[in-house]
Amino acid sequence: MTNEEISDQTFDAIRRSTAGMLKSDVYKAIYEAAVNVKEGIYVDIGPAQGGSTISIALGRRAAGRQDLIYTADVFTGSNALKTSDVNTNVSVLKDNLAAFGVGDGINIIIVGQQDIETSIPKDASIGLLFIDADGALDRDFEQFYDRIIPGGFVILDDCEDKAIEKYVQYPPDRLEKYVKSKGAKKIRDLTPFGKHYTVYKFTKNLVSLGLMKEIKTVNNTVFLRKTGDKAYAESGAPQALAETRDAIARDFFEAREDYFDTAG
Ligand SMILES: C[S@@+](CC[C@H](N)C(=O)[O-])C[C@H]1O[C@@H](n2cnc3c(N)ncnc32)[C@H](O)[C@@H]1O
Repeated sequence: MTNEEISDQTFDAIRRSTAGMLKSDVYKAIYEAAVNVKEGIYVDIGPAQGGSTISIALGRRAAGRQDLIYTADVFTGSNALKTSDVNTNVSVLKDNLAAFGVGDGINIIIVGQQDIETSIPKDASIGLLFIDADGALDRDFEQFYDRIIPGGFVILDDCEDKAIEKYVQYPPDRLEKYVKSKGAKKIRDLTPFGKHYTVYKFTKNLVSLGLMKEIKTVNNTVFLRKTGDKAYAESGAPQALAETRDAIARDFFEAREDYFDTAG
């Protein structure tokens, strides 16, 4: 497919062939952001079967750029992936990238086997960062915010002011099992009211601290640009995001009091 052949149907095809979790118009908007990147590398955290990475890669090609795309996933334990096997899932991603003719210039990072923070060169400037992983934006921003160029694109999926009460209703033993299954110590380390709610709260923190400016939202994917060149550690964000995690956990245990005698 040439750049001229890219149309709305392309984004439907991306969604279909990658069992994509995002709507076609979100893939299109990611592509359009990538077309507008003038400087820096591209980072996709949580590509699953590749829908987001293909959209970024088509945008990079349309812009006539060659800077690397780093695409990082744990490649296991998500129903967005085709199988439960890491190597098979990496092959699925590679095949999907090749099917759209964008396999070159893409570095795949297997999180869990490779350290994402150092696999992406420390001195590389990021022109576009797309995150659709586990909602731990505090970890992701700690690792990558300072590497984003001022004005660079930050695109965050699953950003919605909606708290789901699924885990609120889990009996204590089931909740404990769930937390352990995710390799976490406490529910506070996860997203107790769902990923959307935590991402929404964190995004609001980062915007109100002046680290990013919101441009638009397509479905539940928010498009932002980095504002200024504040150092993340000195921006107040690490403290604000930690307080937000505490507040969400507090609200979660309060909500559980309606269901259980002991909220723990
Ligand atoms: C909702 S899916 C992504 C959908 C994908 N962006 C698309 O276009 O269809 C979330 C992905 O994040 C991955 N993931 C979860 N935690 C992660 C982490 N800590 N680092 C990287 N990827 C992670 C999951 O394995 C899963 O593939």
